[in-house]
Amino acid sequence: MIPLSVPYLSGNEWKYIKDCLDTNWVSSVGSYVNLFEEKFSDFIKCRHSIVTVNGTSAIHLALMSLGIKPGDEVIVPSLTFISPVNAIRYVGATPVFCDALRDTYVMDTRLIEELITEKTRAILPVHIYGHPVDMDMVMEIADKYGLYVIEDATESLGSLYKGKHTGTIGHIGCFSFNGNKLITTGAGGMLVTNDQRLGEYAKYLSNQTKTVLPNGGFYHEEIGFNYRMPNIVAAMGVAQLENIEFHIDAKIRNALFYNELLSEVQGISIPVEKPGIRNINWLYSVVVEDSYGESRDELIKRLKENNIESRPFFMPVHSMPSYKEFRCSKLDTTNELGLKGLNLPSSVSLTKEEIKKICQVIKRG
Ligand SMILES: Cc1ncc(COP(=O)(O)O)c(C=O)c1O
Repeated sequence: MIPLSVPYLSGNEWKYIKDCLDTNWVSSVGSYVNLFEEKFSDFIKCRHSIVTVNGTSAIHLALMSLGIKPGDEVIVPSLTFISPVNAIRYVGATPVFCDALRDTYVMDTRLIEELITEKTRAILPVHIYGHPVDMDMVMEIADKYGLYVIEDATESLGSLYKGKHTGTIGHIGCFSFNGNKLITTGAGGMLVTNDQRLGEYAKYLSNQTKTVLPNGGFYHEEIGFNYRMPNIVAAMGVAQLENIEFHIDAKIRNALFYNELLSEVQGISIPVEKPGIRNINWLYSVVVEDSYGESRDELIKRLKENNIESRPFFMPVHSMPSYKEFRCSKLDTTNELGLKGLNLPSSVSLTKEEIKKICQVIKRG
């Protein structure tokens, strides 16, 4: 089976994890935690990085740190993995769904303003499948209305918007190191911000708001969370980060080869890269148009018969039972992409031969 996206573990993962085992530093405090945060900050050029147990907890922490509370509204795309929308509900706030762009699949920022009410507190753009959202537009609207911006950059680590890393443009950015992500720690996440106060507050919340008293006792000023990443997990993150440029190059090379082989295929729309963008193509994503003559799901079936794993685009969140009743913009493009979008194998280890085989099946060769 050619898998959709699997980890690439080729560096110092064993060595650093063994070091944790040998030295007994396996839990939430340790040098790899600090190193992972520092090196991550250096890589994405952001002042503060705070490790978390996963990407969802990073988004929850971001919303908590910004004081988003019940009754507040947060504008978010419906075409996304459900995690950021669930996190909005964890703090009791209300998601307001925004449609997607047909060509890049990310939120259509032209629709944000019409969704704003006196209850709106934040915009939560998601750079799905790796393509950055139009962040100039998001920040301009946020400034105009005094809103916070939380970037869900879980799928776009390494992607650039006008030279800046996604996740570093809004007030807070969130990343995931789940097994299928650009780099992985098995499970893990990171919250980043350039705001020192926010960074310190997020770290404090992630550690049960623990203050150690002079006598060694613990004092907790407010309700906190245990969202800390263990040292043994951070060790893997440090090793993965050492090879991140190799992972990025492989993803981009894969996408360019796919583009070359699929650009002339009738009914397959290949991904677009807007000017000023570097899209790492975390998951190479196409749209199976009506003119292809076979539905997206039929193609998924045929790929599977040829031992190729693929995945339909996210089913729009507004169509899930828990989210049917929330306010939204028009969602026609989201609905259409939800039916026609397809992610193709995109592992760092994917070979040219495998891409040729996948494209051959798509071409019905
Ligand atoms: C868009 C998006 N947001 C958030 C997450 C949550 O990350 P995690 O699985 O690490 O909690 C993921 C992926 O898993 C994702 O794809």
